Formats: sequence, structure tokens, C-alpha cells
Amino acid sequence: MIIAPSLLASDYTRFGREVERADRSGADWLHLDIMDGHFVPNISFGPELVRAIRPLTKMFFDVHLMCSRPQILIEPFAKAGANEITVHVELHQQVTSLIWKIKSLGKKVGLAINPPTAISLVQPYLDQIDLLLVMTVNPGFGGQEFIHETLPKIQQAEAWRRERKLSYRIEVDGGLNYQTVAECARAGADTFVSGTTLFGAHNLKAAVKKMRKIVNANDPALADLKV
Ligand code: DX5
Ligand code: ZN
Repeated sequence: MIIAPSLLASDYTRFGREVERADRSGADWLHLDIMDGHFVPNISFGPELVRAIRPLTKMFFDVHLMCSRPQILIEPFAKAGANEITVHVELHQQVTSLIWKIKSLGKKVGLAINPPTAISLVQPYLDQIDLLLVMTVNPGFGGQEFIHETLPKIQQAEAWRRERKLSYRIEVDGGLNYQTVAECARAGADTFVSGTTLFGAHNLKAAVKKMRKIVNANDPALADLKV
């Protein structure tokens, strides 16, 4: 299981300290939400911020590009220190070349899908990716309500992974709290992004620990063993 706090929900007056707080929290990855004001109606931060915080931690940098033209951003983020770069399936005919571009830079590849998009769209790419990001809110803003209608997509992603003997991670992002994280774990997710619940917590370390415990308690593989 991977727990990934999203820097989008951190205190913007002190990014460096917030990265160090995440580093000390026991979380596995740092999730970096990149918004371009076009693919989504909000703007966050760019490769220079990623470059600036890179020396502060050895955490895995999970870069989520919510951008209309990722082809011009993949290399700058790769050079800035991303470990994985995720692009959206809603970019349709661009997806294959984006996947190859990310791979050619030696980075792990993620593919994201928005709540209204049919899960069948990701099917042709499943054997080419390291991670499938099932968005559980419409991207653009932190602190939104979890969309329960996305749960069957997680189940489908998990079923395909099993049937096709693939090993991509199933990541969920948006509206995760101690209740919805359990629902996602039961549906088959293994990688959990959270902004508000984690960075909003006074004690980030305790929040990560609590989330991890809840995911473990709802892990379907462990449930099978108990039977
Ligand atoms: C949504 C972003 C999420 C967001 C999650 O556009 O992709 O990563 O930061 O934040 P919370 O956990 O506050 O919903
Ligand atoms: Zn994200």
C-alpha cells in the first residue's frame, strides 16, 4: 500500500517545511498536482517548485499532470525530479506518444481517468502503464466531496489486472477521508492520494498511520485469508 499526501493542500507560505513534514510522516510518496488553468479551471505550480523541493526529501515524487499539453511539460518535470508522471486518458490520440515520452526519460508512467469518462477508454493502455489513477472527484480543486459512482471503476480496474496478470498500481485521488479510503481499499485500490485529510491534520504522522491502519483493515486480500 502507498499513502501519498498531496502538496496541493499544504500551507503555501511554507512549502519547504511542508515537504519536510511529509518526509517525517511515514508517508510513502509525495503527490504533486499540476494544473494548467485550461485542462482544469485552476493553476497550481510548475517544474521549478518541484526542482526546489527535490533536495529536501528522498520521497518518491508522483507528478499528476492535469494539463492540456503535457508534451511540453514532461521533460521539464522529469528533469526537475519526478519519479512518476501521470497523464490523462481524456487526451485521447495523444496518449500513446505521451506514454512513450515518459518512458524514454526513464520515468514510471501513470494514466488518469476522470469521473465522467468511461473506464473502457483505459483498456488499450493497461499493459503499458505502471499506475492507473482513478479520479474520485472532478479534478481542479482540493477539498471536494468523494464521488461514490467511481467505485465500480476501481473494481473493474482490479478485475482486469487480475485477469490479464498485470501489475499496475490502482491509485485513487480526491475526497479521501477515513471513511472513503476504506471503500476504495475494499474496491481494490492500493495507492491513496489525500490532500485535505492528511495535510489538513495537525499531526500528519498520526493521520498517515490512521489511514494506513484503515486500509489494512479493509484490504480484500487479507479478508480472504481470514475466511
Ligand atoms: C484534485 C487533485 C487531488 C487533490 C486531492 O484535482 O488531483 O490530488 O489534491 O485533494 P483532497 O484530498 O483534498 O480531495
Ligand atoms: Zn492528483
